[in-house]
Amino acid sequence: MTKVAVLGAAGGIGQPLSLLLKLDDNVDDLALFDVVNVPGVGADLFHINTDAKISYHLKSDDNGTGLQNALQGADIVIIPAGVPRKPGMTRDDLFKINGGICADLATGIATTCPEALVMVISNPVNSTVPIFAEVFKKHGSYHPKRLFGVTWLDSVRANSFMAQVSNSIPSSLDVKVVGGHSGDTIVPLYSVTAAQEYGRLSEEQESALIHRVQFGGDEVVQAKQGAGSATLSMAYAGYRFLRTFLEIDDDAEELPVESCYIPLDDSIKGAKETKAYLKELTGEDIEFFAMPCELSFDGVEAIQFDLLKNANEKERELIKVCANTLTGNINKGVSFIKG
Ligand code: NAD
Ligand code: LMR
Repeated sequence: MTKVAVLGAAGGIGQPLSLLLKLDDNVDDLALFDVVNVPGVGADLFHINTDAKISYHLKSDDNGTGLQNALQGADIVIIPAGVPRKPGMTRDDLFKINGGICADLATGIATTCPEALVMVISNPVNSTVPIFAEVFKKHGSYHPKRLFGVTWLDSVRANSFMAQVSNSIPSSLDVKVVGGHSGDTIVPLYSVTAAQEYGRLSEEQESALIHRVQFGGDEVVQAKQGAGSATLSMAYAGYRFLRTFLEIDDDAEELPVESCYIPLDDSIKGAKETKAYLKELTGEDIEFFAMPCELSFDGVEAIQFDLLKNANEKERELIKVCANTLTGNINKGVSFIKG
């Protein structure tokens, strides 16, 4: 029996994400939570005759115990709650409001389903994931292997944009992206994970492609003209990342590998090496970083450190730029809780 809770289920991402989860046979129980509109979304999805059981909860339900009811017994919690960007804003401009929302939701998880896999979509991911970590630490329920920032959309974009420029089949690509999830903290490892296609590009095309991946979010924000940011591609990316866990085969010889933004905690295989490498390359002590990870239902089993080591000169330079911004974003999230 697998229970998935979606926090922010009535939003632009939450609705299509909940639909995709309702269609998945591996989900037995789907709990939808929001501060508004979730009864309508829940009633609508309830009519779909797939087997996943639906429940929906407003924060104000049952004397304010809606969040606890949604989270009770959840194996996986995915969080697209919070405010999206408008043109002219950075993700960091969302920090104050979304930081508070994330801190509240993290408290609910820590006290109700502390063992769950926690997948954070809310921006700015570079800072909201450290907020979750600090709240979990406060409650003595921090499981670094089980906390993820969902950065899969960056891989989705890296694949789509590469396919366009190199005239290859989008679904045949599997580009791993490292770093963080905003502008120059996003570093696609094209030379390592799409070497053939990348080798066909001119220097100019390479730079334009990398820039497009780093600022792909802006492209959608501008096209939506104030009506929000990526929702459909994000719902797809969030679902595909989550589905990795639903489909884990205990008998398979190899674990699935996906990029996600995780704590570089010493308890995770490959974290020490990754931190040491980043320190030597960038001079920064980086505590959270998106890396390709081997995943099981227990969380991150190992970081695929070798992929990082094989980055080319241009990608190493990008990682140096990333480190500078990312460290500030992480410290901002940590201080938000620690004061
Ligand atoms: P949206 O405004 O359409 O939906 C957000 C939902 O969150 C709303 O239904 C709102 O009621 C709900 N909400 C607000 N406060 C809440 C709380 N305390 N508890 C539960 N729910 C709450 O926004 P959206 O377009 O769905 O985007 C949501 C977030 O995802 C934004 O922060 C956005 O920047 C982020 N995002 C991240 C990625 C990524 O790659 N990680 C991609 C796209 C968007
Ligand atoms: C994205 O990459 O699309 C999201 O982080 C939303 C945004 O603000 O760009």
